[in-house]
Amino acid sequence: MDRGDHAAGQVAQSEAGGDVSRFLAVQEFELEARRRLPRAVYEYVAGGAGDEHSLRTNEESYQKIFLRPRVLRSVVPVDLSQELFGRPLPVPFLLAPAAYQRLMHPEGELGSAQGATRYGVPFILSSNGTVPIEEITAVPGARCWFQIYVQGDRDFTRDSIARVEAAGCEAVCVTVDTPVLGLRPRQLRAGFRVPAGLELPHAMRLREASDPGLHSAVTWRDVDWLRSVVKSKLLLKGVLHPADAELAVRAGVDGIMVSNHGGRNLDTIIPTIEALPEIAEQVGGRVPVFADGGIRRGTDALKALARGANAVLIGRPYVYALAVAGADGVARCLSLLIEELRLAMALVGAGCLPDLNREVEWPAPAAAKSALMLGNSPLHGHGG
Ligand code: FNR
Ligand code: LAC
Repeated sequence: MDRGDHAAGQVAQSEAGGDVSRFLAVQEFELEARRRLPRAVYEYVAGGAGDEHSLRTNEESYQKIFLRPRVLRSVVPVDLSQELFGRPLPVPFLLAPAAYQRLMHPEGELGSAQGATRYGVPFILSSNGTVPIEEITAVPGARCWFQIYVQGDRDFTRDSIARVEAAGCEAVCVTVDTPVLGLRPRQLRAGFRVPAGLELPHAMRLREASDPGLHSAVTWRDVDWLRSVVKSKLLLKGVLHPADAELAVRAGVDGIMVSNHGGRNLDTIIPTIEALPEIAEQVGGRVPVFADGGIRRGTDALKALARGANAVLIGRPYVYALAVAGADGVARCLSLLIEELRLAMALVGAGCLPDLNREVEWPAPAAAKSALMLGNSPLHGHGG
């Protein structure tokens, strides 16, 4: 299927008949992945920090937001495309960085990137990834970003950035929410360890999962330094406070990822969908804002987009889908979310991404009410 050509029917047809077509919701991949994966690997993916309140509330917070549709608008076909960093982005999804993917499936990160490429979705390679970036950017049509933990060794960090940019990587996401790794009881109990032979082509050195090459002394000064080193786009991943978002914009970053690391580090942390509005408001469109954590349905993605995200990142669902069926699983996971988002947009009366705002929520916050546009064009440029 051509990139950029994602009409609803085509998404459904492109998967029809394939083995993965029996998966009708992304959550179904988890059950199957749990059956297939070694227990310790499953617990590594599935688990969260502490009592896992945040793991649950990331998802539950979405369920607590009610949608209030507008009617009688011409919304078909729904347009999910936008321009991001000067390039067309066909659908508002990205694959979040997730470490050690060859533990989940022999295709590893290559499978994820191949699945993402079928929908023009950027894949973010973890710095603890198990496939070299050059193999991923060699996939025809692939769009690859790179996630990095700033290392104590600046030469190593600089060389890594130069390497991924030379390979064609479009952006570098610096994860800033992990000065130390959270305590994850499930993975500890299951005895998860990164196997000695697992190659990590972008990690400073092979360490245990409790310390994936982190450097705890990173500060805003390192962001200034990174800004001078990164020639592609620079994003910070793991911002939850509007004051930090402001500092990031002033430091010249190109984008902000609102994330609590999928509830894997600090338990009882703010759910990302609750942190998002204040940050979007603070940023005020100066740079794009992304969000992740707990997005399991197209309606969840819609709510994040309505609260000011330009696009959302998917974490565990695609990792489970990779475990089940490699690239085909990842593609199926994305097709389900894309189709659900498309339907949800039509059903709330939004024909394109700029139509989404918090007026779609019930109750709508006061600011959204004042932005209520009774005369909003029902046509979105199609037909009429
Ligand atoms: C992650 N995440 C992550 N983030 C990061 O910046 N670098 C990394 O190496 C990893 N590794 C990783 C492994 C696994 C197995 C998971 C599940 C997650 C966090 C990830 O990028 C993202 O923020 C969350 O997964 C989003 O939440 P959901 O979608 O999993 O709920
Ligand atoms: C994790 C680290 C590797 O979340 O980011 O497992």
